[in-house]
Parts: sequence; C-alpha cells; structure tokens
Amino acid sequence: TPLDKIRNFSIIAHIDHGKSTLADRLIQRTGGLTEREMSAQVLDNMDIEKERGITIKAQTVRLDWKGYVLNLMDTPGHVDFAYEVSRSLAACEGALLVVDAAQGVEAQTLANVYQSIEHDHEIVPVINKIDLPAAEPEKVRAEIEDIIGLDASNAILASAKSGIGIDEILDAIVERIPAPKGDASAPLKAMLVDSWYDPYLGVVILVRVMAGVLKKGQEIAFMAGGTRHLVDRVGCFRPKIEQLTELGAGEIGFITAQIKEITETRVGDTITDAKKPAAEPLPGFKEVQPVVFCGLFPTDANDFEKLRESISKLRLNDASFSFEMETSAALGFGFRCGFLGLLHLEIIQERLTREYDLDLITTAPSVVYHIHLAHTKNEDARVIDLHNPADMPDPTRIESIEEPWIEATIYVPDEYLGSILKLCQDRRGIQKDLTYVGGRAQLKYELPLNEVVFDFYDRLKSISRGYASFDYHQIGYREGDLVKMSILVNDEAVDALSMIVHRAGAETRGRGMCERLKDLIPRHMFKIPIQAAIGGKVIARETIAALRKDVTAKCYGGDASRKRKLLDKQKEGKKRMREYGNVSIPQEAFIAALRMG
Ligand code: GTP
Repeated sequence: TPLDKIRNFSIIAHIDHGKSTLADRLIQRTGGLTEREMSAQVLDNMDIEKERGITIKAQTVRLDWKGYVLNLMDTPGHVDFAYEVSRSLAACEGALLVVDAAQGVEAQTLANVYQSIEHDHEIVPVINKIDLPAAEPEKVRAEIEDIIGLDASNAILASAKSGIGIDEILDAIVERIPAPKGDASAPLKAMLVDSWYDPYLGVVILVRVMAGVLKKGQEIAFMAGGTRHLVDRVGCFRPKIEQLTELGAGEIGFITAQIKEITETRVGDTITDAKKPAAEPLPGFKEVQPVVFCGLFPTDANDFEKLRESISKLRLNDASFSFEMETSAALGFGFRCGFLGLLHLEIIQERLTREYDLDLITTAPSVVYHIHLAHTKNEDARVIDLHNPADMPDPTRIESIEEPWIEATIYVPDEYLGSILKLCQDRRGIQKDLTYVGGRAQLKYELPLNEVVFDFYDRLKSISRGYASFDYHQIGYREGDLVKMSILVNDEAVDALSMIVHRAGAETRGRGMCERLKDLIPRHMFKIPIQAAIGGKVIARETIAALRKDVTAKCYGGDASRKRKLLDKQKEGKKRMREYGNVSIPQEAFIAALRMG
C-alpha cells in the first residue's frame, strides 16, 4: 500500500467511555464483521477483560475505508500497562480521544492524551454516548479545551451504541491524521508492539514497520533480545487473520517466526534484517520490571504442582510477570510473583482461580525496597533489592532503606475533596498541587508506592462513590524510616503476615492487624496471644480466649465411632485452614488481615 493511503491510529479513552464499542462499530461499518459476529465484543476477547471491561492485551485491526487502509491499534486501558500503551502509541500517527458525554474528562484519559501529544499525534476528539439523556456534549467540549488544551471545536458527536457519527469519524481519520512516513528502501526497522502465545501459531508478534520491508522467508534479528528467526508468516487482522507476503514501511501487521517463548519477544524491541541490519535500534526500548510482589500459595498443599503448571501456562502469554519458588513456614510451598501493579496481580490471581480452578492464599503485596547494608569485617557495603519482608536482613547491618515513590493525579468532585485529602495525608502523601476545573478538583500528590498498593484505589472509589479517578507514575526512590513488622500468633512469627511499614504508622497498623486477626482466628482449646512486633519489641497485642469445651468432651466414655465422627467433622471444617504451630488460621485471615482500616 502506498504510504499516503495508510492511516495508523489508536483510541484513547477512560475505562467505560466506549472504546471497545466504538472499535467494534468501526469494524462493522467497514465490512470486517457481520451483525451476528458483532454480537460479542471483538477487541476485548478475554473473559476477564469483558467482565471488568478492561482491555489487557493490545490488538490491532486493519480497516478499508474509501480506498484507504486504516490500522486501528487497540491500547490497554490501565496504568499498570503504561509502557505497553507508550509502544502502541509510538506505532501510530494519531488518536481518537473518546470522552463520555455524560462523564466528561477523567484522570486516566489525561495521562494517555499527554502521552499521545508527546508522540506528536494528531488527536481527533470524539464525544461519545450522546444518546444518553444525561449527555452534556457542550460541557464536555469545553472540558476538553479547558482541561486538556485541545481544540474541540471540530469534536465529533457520536454514539457508538446507536451508530451515530461513525462515518464522520472514519472520514476524520483519513482527513486529519497524517499518513505515516518511512523509507522502504532503507534497512528494516520494525517495532515490536506486542506479542502473545497462540497454541497453533506459536508466538505471534505485532509490528509496526518504520523503515524497510518485512517479508515472508526473511531472516530477522531482535536487536535487544539478540536472537535470530526466520519469518514464516506475515499478515494482518481484519479482525480475522489475512496472510500477506510483506509489510512495507508505515504498515502495521503481525508476523510469526516459529518462536516458542514469549520471553524472547520484548515489547519495544527493534526487529531488523539479520543480513542487512539497521545501524541503530529505534528509540524508547525499556525492559519492563515488576513493581509489586506477593506470595501465592495453594490452600491445599497437594495443589502445588497444579499451581506450578498453571503459573507456567499463564506466563507463556505474559512476559511481564515473574515467579520463583518460595517456601514459607506457615504456608508451605508456593511462588513469589512479581507484577506490574495491583490490577495486574488481581488479573493473574483471578485467572488462576477461575480458569485453573485453584484455591489460593495471597500474602501481603510488597514493593521493591532498596536496602543499604553497612560493611562488615568480611563484606563490603552494598545495596540489595528486597521484595519479600521474610528476607529482611539483620537490622543492625542496615544503614538505610529506600522505598519507591509515585506521583498521583486524582480527579474528584468538590464534595469529596476533604475526605480524599485526608486519605492522602494518612498515606504519607505530600500535596503538590490543587486546582479546580469545572466542578472538580485536580489533585497532585506524591505518595509512597507502599501506601498505595494495598487498597488505596478501593478506598478512593468508596470514599467518592466511584467519582474519583486516579492515575500514577513512579518518580524514584526516597529514604524512609521503615521497619519490618512481624505478627506472632501463639508466640510464633507468621512469616506470610509480616510486612514492611513506616515506623510512624507501625503501631496503628499493628493494632489493626491484631484486632482483625482476633476476629478471624477461631477459638482453640487454649488461649492464643496475637502480637505485632518490631524486632523484639511488641507494639500491639490481643488475646483470643480459650474455648470452654472440647468438642469431644461430651463423648468421654461414649462410643469410639461417634467420637471419630465428631473429629472428622471438625477436620472438614479445618480444610480451608492453615495449621501454624498448633493454631489453625483460616485462609481468609491472610488477606483480610492485610486490609487497612
Ligand atoms: P475499556 O475496555 O475498559 O477501555 O472500556 P471501553 O472504553 O472499551 O468501554 P466499552 O466500549 O466496553 O463501553 C462501556 C459501556 O458503555 C458499555 O456498557 C457500552 O455498552 C456502553 N456504551 C458504549 N458506547 C455507548 C454509547 O454511545 N451510548 C451508550 N448509551 N452507551 C455506550
């Protein structure tokens, strides 16, 4: 296809503003799908994506419109996947900015719009859902201008649901978004935008060719990954697979090259011709690193192998989460897993539970701390990365601890501002900015990531009845007065419950943990002390009183079979418990205890 007949664009939208619905509508209008095939949303093809309404993996579709080839690049819609978003945007020349006519501009929209502007995109504003009675398109148009600073005078009024404005959108893509540039005679440079594992095709790689031509049969090299492969398929999605012989500069499509492991295909890598390589890779490649870690353990110890298999299978399709084996005195064998963020963690956890039918215990999520160790007689001073409180080194060797910080942007209607400010303050936040836009406050806060990973987002949503929106990016490490808090049940430390906390908040957190555990752990035959401690110092304490009666007491002298039946019954009730020393801790306790009050 000649360059001037190509348009590459993505759709930027806040969650639920109608990105997928619009994408489906564009596909349908341009003939990619029939009405019947439309009935299931096409772009969000995973169940969990559908249920949560979140796009996890980018997909791309080629559309034909009035003699032009339009490549629609779908982008993930959550902060956890910000790097993948940046690569998808780098593959395009423009974007549709979809804003809900009733909801208006929200924080997540902003983050992606600014990224898009950084990529020099031509942005076409689309005010969607104008069919809703609560739609206020003129107010939203003003918001787009005031808040984002984009000219919205030619924003398209649309309803993806009822099919209003679809032709205008397609025409605007052709007229307003520039054609891609790229020298087809230069050595091949193609950006790896995304990859996924397909049981029939192996690893499928989504590419944007920046220069040169990518052909079937060509030997290619990954410049960051360092491996070489023979291209055995080249094609595009309409959204059904269509095979092609080549993809030229400016084009978007997919290739396969008999690659078995997704780890070989890193998002943002440059693909070049192995025989005639490009002099330098494309800018912007970054190795993605997990930022949130937690332990995943099977509730039933016999499920360990099943968990290992399931995790390995999931990992086939998601190179951004990591896992290694971990043993815990309380929980036995399991895995320490790393994720891009809490949502990513929840998605994996949910898939393991649902698709693989596993019952799991999740330990306290932790961020990665930098621990500065003093030198000793035998060892030099050094810095270690710590992501499991159980591995905390001897405190006397620690010079200082640094923790990751984020900058958060929060949008909130005025009436909830007070409680949101308090929440941020309680989480050690430093206010950087507070401005008003329309009836809403825009807050900027610096916060320790550690204070955000637990339940910040949930709290924010519940305090604001769902009206606040939240977005963040990391801003580096800062020293903090951090300590490891251990939880002792019946005088034994339960490693899965230990966590790293700020000293100033330790007592409150410790007390909260002990109080919740007191309610969560059933009574036993004996008195159980529950303590929170820093080093050897107990900072909070609760006691679970002893049960008065032995369940079998009334059987004394009774017949043995009845007694066994009772014991069996008791055992049944214990199935979802974890024996710890001689105390049984129910599965829910591990997660419930970690929720902050
Ligand atoms: P993510 O995939 O999370 O980014 O969400 P999304 O932006 O793709 O939203 P989606 O297309 O799934 O739409 C969210 C909800 O809004 C769905 O219930 C849609 O049916 C509805 N919706 C989308 N477009 C319109 C519209 O034009 N009018 C009305 N009334 N509802 C719409």
